[in-house]
Amino acid sequence: MRTYSGKVVELQSDHLGRPTAWVTCPPGAIPAPGQYLKSHAPAVIGEVLPAVLFAAETTPQGFRAASPIPPEWLPGTSLSLWGPLGNGFRLDWNVRHLALVAIEDVSRLAPLIPRLLEQGADITLFVNASTPPLPASVEVAPLSALPEALSWADFMALDLPLSKLSGLRSLLALMPDQHLPCPAQALIYTAMPCAGLAECGVCAVPTRRGWKLACQDGPVFDLHTLEW
Ligand code: FES
Repeated sequence: MRTYSGKVVELQSDHLGRPTAWVTCPPGAIPAPGQYLKSHAPAVIGEVLPAVLFAAETTPQGFRAASPIPPEWLPGTSLSLWGPLGNGFRLDWNVRHLALVAIEDVSRLAPLIPRLLEQGADITLFVNASTPPLPASVEVAPLSALPEALSWADFMALDLPLSKLSGLRSLLALMPDQHLPCPAQALIYTAMPCAGLAECGVCAVPTRRGWKLACQDGPVFDLHTLEW
């Protein structure tokens, strides 16, 4: 695991009014879509557990850490960063029709958008919450429109809270044994208090081969490997 130094350079409210942080760091530390960084602010007294950071936006100089971020962080806070960690999205970049599915929040999926638009993909974002400013070519639809999109999409990328995994089948209007007609990967979003440090098991995800850890085996999983 690589260690890097970073610094909070700006706090910024996101589209839902939550604090996010612009972090400068070496290019190698910037997490790919779906990956995360473990971070610690040495100067913040009382910080025991590492913070888990996903990118909501990236630049060559760093990234904007999606909410939540530690409330003690201020512009100028120095950070120790470990990572990038975990399995991110492994897309076939030839995908033509991408369904992005944000069950609660689009932030962690947003970095996929620019690269796929560059590849010429058509993107529809399925979400019920408000969204950040998006390129005009990205269509936005409510989650209730997802079942109709199943025959259109040739790939589906989801941001899915672990607590919503059991309800996914009904959201997609799939019969109990019906398979998805396209490949799909899901970022399973859940608390990762030790981020793999102590194998606490809090982030356990049910799969067809038993329980896996989101912090080590995910947080992005092929949907067909999960029990849902
Ligand atoms: S967060 Fe502790 S094992 Fe994953």
